[in-house]
Amino acid sequence: MARILVIHGPNLNLLGRKEREIYGSDTLAEINRQLSEVARQHAVELEFFQSNHEGAIIDKIQEAMETARAGILINPGGFTHYSIAIRDALSAVALPTVEVHLSNVHAREEFRGRSVIAPVCIGQVGGFGKQSYVLGLLGLLKHLERDAATM
Ligand code: DQA
Repeated sequence: MARILVIHGPNLNLLGRKEREIYGSDTLAEINRQLSEVARQHAVELEFFQSNHEGAIIDKIQEAMETARAGILINPGGFTHYSIAIRDALSAVALPTVEVHLSNVHAREEFRGRSVIAPVCIGQVGGFGKQSYVLGLLGLLKHLERDAATM
């Protein structure tokens, strides 16, 4: 069974309690529950990881190579806009990765419109609240299916 790593970056542990007008009222646990349901329907396994620390996220990405994860779904939070180190880690492990955002980062402050992570991802989904995660996961699964078919 394919195993996918789901990474939630800084401050996403506060979901449902902070800036609900931007990020909605769902908690991270609810988002993870919904993703687990989609994963069950597609017979894949998810591993969830949340951290407020750049180094911990990098360690987790590196670990994904050794633990044979098929791909990564990541909401890098604020690190999206400047963490070259997270980008380098994703680039190094070279696993298919999808970047997701709850909010439409292009409709907010100008600095949010730039992602240093997106160029090393197969795609980016944003603006659909928790559905961004579901759509991102479905996109990643389709990509993996296509890859498997051409092997
Ligand atoms: C976010 C967008 C980022 O700009 C912000 O720093 C976050 C959340 C989103 O999911 O919309 O932490 O990644």
